[in-house]
Amino acid sequence: MTSRFIVLGALFVLSCQPVAHAASEQMKGSPQTLREHYDLQEGKRLYEQYCRFCHGEQGKGKAFDVTPPPADLTSPAVQQKSDYELTQIIHGGEQGTAMGAWKWALSDKDKQNVLQYIRSLAR
Ligand code: HEC
Repeated sequence: MTSRFIVLGALFVLSCQPVAHAASEQMKGSPQTLREHYDLQEGKRLYEQYCRFCHGEQGKGKAFDVTPPPADLTSPAVQQKSDYELTQIIHGGEQGTAMGAWKWALSDKDKQNVLQYIRSLAR
């Protein structure tokens, strides 16, 4: 009887270890880096929801067969553009192409997060 409690107790302590570990991982770093982490996660979520269909899993483009093809977002041609330029394109789309305007779907913060995610794909 008692030994069963000891075993259960030991299992309980062991099962708490990863949780305690994960919590201490998160507590590391400043609130600033934590916020950046969550913004990037959010950008990834938005990218997968809205952009992956055409620009592909890794942002390499051409996932959807249209002319002109969806841009390779990791290419120097795209990455050399400023945050402002890229945000304008995401906001307003590119006329005569399959790249639509996302101003209807994405807030300013969303556009910023998705852009940071696109930047991270090129690193
Ligand atoms: C229906 C397909 C489609 C979807 C969905 C789509 N795009 Fe595009 N995107 C394109 C195409 C096609 C181009 C290339 C247009 C051209 O060649 O001028 C493009 C171009 C771009 C460019 C400009 C690259 C450059 O240097 O000119 C950016 C930035 C971009 N897309 C970001 C996004 C983001 C962010 C999303 C999701 C919110 C998204 N796209 C969703 C088709 C798509």
